[in-house]
Amino acid sequence: MQDLPIDAWCRGLAELPEGGFVSAVNGYVQRFGVATDSVARYAFFRPDRYTRNLVFKNDLFEVLLLCWDRGTQSAIHNHRDQECWMVMVSGCLEVVNYRAEERDPSRGHCRLSPSSTFRITRKRPVGIDQDEPIHAVFNCSDRGERAMSVHVYSRPFDTCEIYDFVAQTYRDVRLHYDSVYGEEDASDAV
Ligand code: SIN
Repeated sequence: MQDLPIDAWCRGLAELPEGGFVSAVNGYVQRFGVATDSVARYAFFRPDRYTRNLVFKNDLFEVLLLCWDRGTQSAIHNHRDQECWMVMVSGCLEVVNYRAEERDPSRGHCRLSPSSTFRITRKRPVGIDQDEPIHAVFNCSDRGERAMSVHVYSRPFDTCEIYDFVAQTYRDVRLHYDSVYGEEDASDAV
């Protein structure tokens, strides 16, 4: 695998053909990683939650740098039918996938059971499994290290479903960027 600076990595993605984009990205993320020392301008951490930092966006896809301080995690969520790839830049992340055992949209009910757990490594970027797209992501460092990951979403989206495992409910939430092209965006940051 060859590491590229993040801006060159995004430009390479943007050159992939729109027809067959999914399989082209699968090959691209296996072949090219993101150089850790190239992401500093997009990296904003918060101690209480992970941050979502926009690096590149066009009509077909967006690239975000996600910054995971020690102990942070995502909600259990679903990007619906969107494709998503996760590429490690530094640190350690674990993904837990869930199966929807029952779902009743009329009352926002969903009963989940965990189905698989795996780590994303620099050598093993992952795409979200479209057969089981409900998942949560954790900073899994047992030494308290921060983590950074690059996520490609196609097409770009600004809402997702989040799930409450115990209450067996789910609902739509709006997604926000904490920074946009390297600038902290006070109006859009959550
Ligand atoms: C997010 O996009 O906020 C969550 C991380 C992911 O599952 O891609």
